[in-house]
Amino acid sequence: MRVLITGASSGIGAALARAYAAQGAQVYLLARRAAALEAVRQSLPEPNRHQIFVADVTVAASLQQAAQACLSTGVPDIVIANAGVSVGTLTEYADDLQATEEVIQTNLLALIRTFQPFIQPMKARGGGTLVSIASVAGIRGLPGAGAYSAAKAAVIAYTESLRVELRGSGIEVVTLAPGYIRTPMTAHNPYPMPFMLDADEFARRAQREIARGTSYTVIPWQMGVVAKGLRLLPNWLYDRLFQHAGRKPRAHELAAYQTHAQAHTNSHTNNQANSGAAAHHDAP
Ligand SMILES: NC(=O)c1ccc[n+]([C@@H]2O[C@H](COP(=O)([O-])OP(=O)(O)OC[C@H]3O[C@@H](n4cnc5c(N)ncnc54)[C@H](OP(=O)(O)O)[C@@H]3O)[C@@H](O)[C@H]2O)c1
Repeated sequence: MRVLITGASSGIGAALARAYAAQGAQVYLLARRAAALEAVRQSLPEPNRHQIFVADVTVAASLQQAAQACLSTGVPDIVIANAGVSVGTLTEYADDLQATEEVIQTNLLALIRTFQPFIQPMKARGGGTLVSIASVAGIRGLPGAGAYSAAKAAVIAYTESLRVELRGSGIEVVTLAPGYIRTPMTAHNPYPMPFMLDADEFARRAQREIARGTSYTVIPWQMGVVAKGLRLLPNWLYDRLFQHAGRKPRAHELAAYQTHAQAHTNSHTNNQANSGAAAHHDAP
C-alpha cells in the first residue's frame, strides 16, 4: 500500500506516517522542513522504503512538482491532506489579515490542490482514498479563530461535495475532524482541552476509519458528541456560552510563547549541562 501524507514532518502527519509504516505501507512524506521530514523518515521501519518530498503546499508549482514526482512512482492508494496551520485572528486588526490568508490558503485551498492531481489517475486505476483532516473547530465559528473555523468548515463542505461527485468512481472520500490532539499546534493553547488524545492514538483510530471508508467522523468520539450538541445550540445560547471562551493566541502572541519556550528549553539544557558537569566532578 502507498500512502501520501502532507504535513508529515510533525504532529498528526508524523503519527500517521508511523502508523502506516508499521502496517507495512510505503509512505510518502511531504512538508516544508527537510530535516524534520528526514527525522520522521529515519524513525520509520525500513526508512529507505519511504520517500520525502520537500514542498510548500501553498505554492502551486511546488505542490504540483511533488505530486508528479509521487505519481511517477505509481498512484498512491491513500492521499491524506493533513498540512495545516492554526493561529488566532481578529478581523478588527489589519495585522491579522496576512495570518487569515495564510490559514485559508494552507488549510483549504492547498487541500483542494493536494487532491486534484490524484483524482484522474485514481479513477483510471478504479480506486483510491482521499482523506481530509478537518477539525471540530469547523462545526461552529469559534471566537478568536474566525479564519481557522472558516477554513475547516469549508473543508467539511468541500469534501462532502467531492464525495458525492466521486460516488461510483471507486474513490472514497473520508473527512476526519480531530478534537484536541497533543501536537506542537496545541502546545500553546491557553484553555482547557477536554478529551485530549496523543497523536499516535489519533493516528491508530484514523487508520481504522480510513480503512472502513467512513465518510465523516470526529476523533475522539466524545468530541463528536460535544460537536453535535454545539450544532444544536440556538445562536443566543451559543453566543452567551462562548463569548468569554479561551482564544487561540494571535500570531505575535504565538511568537512570544515560542521565544519564551525556547528560552526555557535553553536554560533547562544549560542547567542540565551544569548539573551534569557538577555530578561528573563529584563522582568518586
Ligand atoms: N492538534 C489538534 O488538536 C488538531 C485539531 C484539529 C485539527 N487539526 C489539524 O490537523 C492537521 C495537523 O496538525 P498538527 O496538530 O499535527 O500540527 P503540527 O504539528 O503543527 O503540524 C502541521 C504540519 O503541517 C505542515 N505544514 C504547515 N504548513 C505547510 C505548508 N505551507 N506546506 C507544507 N506543509 C505545511 C507542517 O510542516 P512544515 O512546517 O515542515 O512545512 C507540519 O508537518 C492540521 O490540518 C490541523 O489543522 C489538529
